[in-house]
Amino acid sequence: MHVGIDLITFSTSKYFFKLETLAKYRNVDYAKYCTGIGQTQMSVFPPNEDIITLSVAAAEKLLSEIDNKDSIDMLIFASESSFDISKAEGIYVHKFLKLNNECRVFNIKQACYSLTAALQIAKSHVALYPSSKVLVIGSDIIKYPSNSSGEPTQGGAAVAMIVSESPRILELEPYSSVFTKEVMDFWRPIYKSEALFDGKLSAYNYLELLKITFDKYIKKSRLSKKDIDYFCFHCPFCKMAQKAARQIGDIDIHYTTIYNSVIGNSCSASLYISFISLLDNCLNDLTEKRIGFFSYGSGSVAEFFSGKVVPGYKRVLLSQRHKKDLEERIEISFEDYELFRKNTSPFNSKNYVNIGNLTLSNISDDKRYYSKINKF
Ligand code: CAA
Repeated sequence: MHVGIDLITFSTSKYFFKLETLAKYRNVDYAKYCTGIGQTQMSVFPPNEDIITLSVAAAEKLLSEIDNKDSIDMLIFASESSFDISKAEGIYVHKFLKLNNECRVFNIKQACYSLTAALQIAKSHVALYPSSKVLVIGSDIIKYPSNSSGEPTQGGAAVAMIVSESPRILELEPYSSVFTKEVMDFWRPIYKSEALFDGKLSAYNYLELLKITFDKYIKKSRLSKKDIDYFCFHCPFCKMAQKAARQIGDIDIHYTTIYNSVIGNSCSASLYISFISLLDNCLNDLTEKRIGFFSYGSGSVAEFFSGKVVPGYKRVLLSQRHKKDLEERIEISFEDYELFRKNTSPFNSKNYVNIGNLTLSNISDDKRYYSKINKF
């Protein structure tokens, strides 16, 4: 039986901020951001857009492409940007998507690795119950302290995937290698809205776990590097993925970083945005090509796994929509960037636009209220 990704898409903000502008205000040479770190823009989020509205925007695009959404009997929500440590954000998403009530909904957390954990659980579930479909969502908005070295790598997005039997995009292979090691490289205590990190340690640990998991993957699968046609790496910023590619060997990852370089770090979603970027932009036919994936979540857990692209995959891609969404984003000023970072302005005071049809309209009595937007 073949199990894997049947459909995949992402949603990010309607707004972006140029790193050239950030460099000017932070008194940094822009070349450090665009060449040294590999980023040119970041997605930035108005107060009415959050991990729920982004997720619903992404998932709605997929539901319109499947025959029977009642066959979704599991929704796994992966995030490190949770606003509630008890209630799973996936439950809000389940409600706004009007999914079947006989659907198991839960969250998964392990920094940027969480969406890969979700994907692997979904794969096992479908292998046991072949008629079921699993909706897997990774949604993150990441902020670092102002003026910190992490600031130019901020960003955010949601990726939504349907995992099923006989998938139309990617068949996951049985080969995979996982490694867990406790490291204090990146964390966010529940009382903080911005992440804390040890940047150099995180980059070192990322590359160390890549080496361990890739070597183990090669040993277990009895494949060689040459058998992997394309590589997608977790992409906290594009230079990190380039360093990963250099460590593996002579690999071109240009097509996998096109979207990440203008979205910024989307944590759980980031690896899968690299995959979508490859699918949408690669000029070669990817049919039957083996893709190697390296997933890294600080703290830390890493996994190297692979899959093969399914014949006919192009027919179900949403490439034009992805490109249009990015092209149509609105640039914001430094003043608005600071305002968005604080996330405290009254809701809808400036009529900020959402990417989808749902908006966070209010928070009162510690409850979040959402409403549908009528778009004409
Ligand atoms: N022109 C061109 N290049 C320049 C330059 C200039 N004027 N000035 C500096 N550079 C280059 C440097 O040479 C360096 O290149 P190399 O890495 O190839 O040596 C690069 O720009 C970065 O410079 P620094 O190392 O001085 O940068 P920094 O210390 O200010 O910050 C960082 C870099 C530590 C990665 C920082 O962005 C950071 O802390 N980010 C957050 C943590 C992170 O993303 N870690 C990644 C691994 S953890 C993970 O993957 C999980 C996750 O998603 C968070």
